[in-house]
Amino acid sequence: MTICYFTASGNCLYVARRLGGTLLSIPQLMRQDKIEIQDDAVGIVSPVYAVEMPAMVRKFIAKVHIQTDYFFFVYTYGMGYAEAFAHVKLATEDKGLKLSYINAIQMVDNYLPIFDQQEQIDTLPQKNVEGQIERLLADIAARKTVEVNVTAETLATIEMYKKQLAVPILRKETAKEYIVNDNCISCGICAKVCPANNINVTKENGVQFADRCEVCYACLHNCPQNALHLKKEANTVKFRNEHVTLKDIIEANQ
Ligand SMILES: Cc1cc2nc3c(=O)[nH]c(=O)nc-3n(C[C@H](O)[C@H](O)[C@H](O)COP(=O)(O)O)c2cc1C
Ligand code: SF4
Ligand code: SF4
Repeated sequence: MTICYFTASGNCLYVARRLGGTLLSIPQLMRQDKIEIQDDAVGIVSPVYAVEMPAMVRKFIAKVHIQTDYFFFVYTYGMGYAEAFAHVKLATEDKGLKLSYINAIQMVDNYLPIFDQQEQIDTLPQKNVEGQIERLLADIAARKTVEVNVTAETLATIEMYKKQLAVPILRKETAKEYIVNDNCISCGICAKVCPANNINVTKENGVQFADRCEVCYACLHNCPQNALHLKKEANTVKFRNEHVTLKDIIEANQ
């Protein structure tokens, strides 16, 4: 089994690890000219962003050539995923890849503008993450199939979300609005955890952002000095999955 994953604060990396098999980082795969994956089962583990998948995961699906009898997709999310399953069905159908199974694991919501990370961490036991993962593992082991129906109503909702959510949230220039405070020691870790190679750190100019931001918040969540902030964030607490280290995120995204 091969699992391709995208992660910023570790939830997807943790779920990918629990699934097992060969783990491949989507940001690293995207640096290859050609991506070809062949296995008895191939899965993608991705966060929900603005009730769909991150832009890089969408581009990955468009680029990758997958040969398998069992292709599956697992989201991790915090609050809700609405039409996110339909997005996967449409994106995979577009390239003739049959989606055999899809699921979503509810974890900490790392969306900083709205969610108090401390509250998310404190209430995590209520989500029974391990129970959700056990059920997922059983489904995958049994090669369970799930059908996603995309109706006219689904398509209308997707259009509505596109206008209301995705455009304001996922703007390329978002990172330029991040605040670097005086705690910054120019260690360069934010650049190392960035899946989009969007950050440059020098002693002279400090932290500089380019215009390739995926709005994943890996830089904000993983800064060891908590020196990176949004102009508007629920509070200053940041999050990384308890089973995942900073080194893991660097290795995944560098
Ligand atoms: C830009 C952005 C948008 C998000 N949008 C949603 C959303 O629409 N619904 C949801 O439930 N969670 C949303 N989240 C939360 C993540 O999907 C969730 O925390 C995920 O588990 C993070 O995975 P990671 O730790 O592997 O990065 C969003 C997070 C970010 C950064
Ligand atoms: S990770 Fe934090 S402390 Fe290090 S360079 Fe980036 S903002 Fe500064
Ligand atoms: S700049 Fe920060 S938020 Fe944007 S892609 Fe890089 S790590 Fe993610």
